Amino acid sequence: MSALFSPMTVKRFTFRNRVVLPPMVCVVRPELAHYAGVEGVVSEVSIEHYARRAQAGTGLIMVEATAVDEGGRCWEGAMGAYADRHLPGLARLAERIHEAGAVAGIQLVHHGPQGSPDLAPDGLVGPSDAAPTGSRPAVRGLTVEEIHAIEGRFEEAAERVVQAGFDLVEVHAAHGFLLDSFLLQARNRRQDEYGGDLDGRMRIVLETCRRIRRRIGGGPLLTCRTCLFNKREEGFGAEDLETLVGGLEEAGNDLLDVSTDGVFKGWFGSPRSLGQWVKGMTGLPVIAAGGLGDARDAERAVSEGHADFAAVGTAMLDDADWTRRAREELGA
Ligand code: FNR
Repeated sequence: MSALFSPMTVKRFTFRNRVVLPPMVCVVRPELAHYAGVEGVVSEVSIEHYARRAQAGTGLIMVEATAVDEGGRCWEGAMGAYADRHLPGLARLAERIHEAGAVAGIQLVHHGPQGSPDLAPDGLVGPSDAAPTGSRPAVRGLTVEEIHAIEGRFEEAAERVVQAGFDLVEVHAAHGFLLDSFLLQARNRRQDEYGGDLDGRMRIVLETCRRIRRRIGGGPLLTCRTCLFNKREEGFGAEDLETLVGGLEEAGNDLLDVSTDGVFKGWFGSPRSLGQWVKGMTGLPVIAAGGLGDARDAERAVSEGHADFAAVGTAMLDDADWTRRAREELGA
């Protein structure tokens, strides 16, 4: 009996198995370049890309980082949910994922300090001013009013993707993009309520989740993606993680998505994986990604309790049929 291929129900949504395509902006792959449409509109190439992975039997398809703000994009062709013109393409995408039997999720992002300077006419923004370094341009610290406006952009985009038919909204608070950059002590030197201690630094993340939850209501699922591998040298410890996890739960998330640099790696000086730490801190189901390209590792991640859902990134980008093959390999 395969743990990876057992179904799971979260609220009114039944996932046919625990295999997840994590959010992956594929425009960086030369063979998939130009797959995104003009001005953030979903293209047919993109729809086929996701539909194929859903048709292979994947439980949850999490559509790539989708911009909530025109100025917060990373790539010229990046998918957007910041205008009503994006709705028809998003609806067609959600429909095709559903037709193939998968739960349809989508990640919302503001790239902030890691955005594209060419796409941010007013300059890149982040928690605090930062001088240019190497090839990266300067960053301007946001005012409190601008922070609230960006939270509002997340809220509006969430409403749009739910209207388009997505079941699950994911807030991107990982990998150094805008929300994660507030969590990072090295980037967030604010003295106001959005900086300082962890309560201050995570305020924008939690407010964003809360505002989305209020806007979309209790029906659709909400999750937040976090990562800690970029906070190791800042001494982000188990207690900090517990505070963050507790905050995310209180802010209305139904699942947590943990991006790791290795699902089986030990954390905080112990052999326990990050997913096991998180699962010990909350009853919410946990998605974990990082090095699960081998079907037996994905199986082990779930059966050994590192995660409830195994996200398979690069391997599924390379092989649209990964899930079908994994099922055969595991005899499930
Ligand atoms: C990513 N990743 C990523 N993460 C995210 O939160 N939003 C995104 O849009 C992307 N885009 C993306 C593009 C490409 C080309 C890569 C390689 C990665 C990270 C991804 O979701 C996943 O967490 C990692 O790839 C680790 O999983 P694997 O590849 O080890 O299975």
